Amino acid sequence: MSTAEIDKLVYDYTTSHNAIPAPLNYEGFPKSVCTSINQVVCHGIPDENEILKNGDIINVDVSTIYEGYFSDASRMFMIGDVKEEWKRLVEVTKECLEIGIATAQPWARLGDVGAAIQEHAEKNGYSVVRDLCGHGVGLKFHEVPNVEHFGKKGTGMLIVPGMTFTIEPMINMGKYQVYVDEKNGWTVLTEDGLPSAQWEHTILITETGNEILTW
Ligand code: MF3
Ligand code: CO
Repeated sequence: MSTAEIDKLVYDYTTSHNAIPAPLNYEGFPKSVCTSINQVVCHGIPDENEILKNGDIINVDVSTIYEGYFSDASRMFMIGDVKEEWKRLVEVTKECLEIGIATAQPWARLGDVGAAIQEHAEKNGYSVVRDLCGHGVGLKFHEVPNVEHFGKKGTGMLIVPGMTFTIEPMINMGKYQVYVDEKNGWTVLTEDGLPSAQWEHTILITETGNEILTW
């Protein structure tokens, strides 16, 4: 299938449930979902000429406005037979998200979350994208705080009950450097052309831990 077909599925499902696809027309973004394949890190634009092929890995990033509130989540999908080396990248990146969520406890600090994610990624020989981060989410798509996926334990903002933010590590197989495609001003790619993976949840910090809002 093409990534434009994924976009249509997301648009139709969202609008038929009285919700609004948040990416559509967001700062000029032309589609309802981001679809990011292989060396595309994030913000890939669905296209009818872009056809999924055997061995691809794709991030589908869905954000929805419902009754005035924003949500934001993404998952990876592996198409057909994916190389073991690429599967491992997808799996370790999922673990990075899980470790980040486990670390995002009330009265911890945002730097604890970043440090835990960075440690797991780098221990596995990967690098953490620096130029994009998680974010507060609620009445707006992107709110404070910035949630970096790298950092130092014991630094950064205190995490307190009531905060709602995303954790969305982008992990590169090679180097962490990325660039934005000049042709559309959106698509972020790895500088070295090696693949990148991402998983994302929106979480709510509670008195006793956190709750994942985007299952
Ligand atoms: N969903 C992305 C995020 O995780 C934001 C995409 S902005 C868009 O923050 F315009 F590209 F949709
Ligand atoms: Co996000």
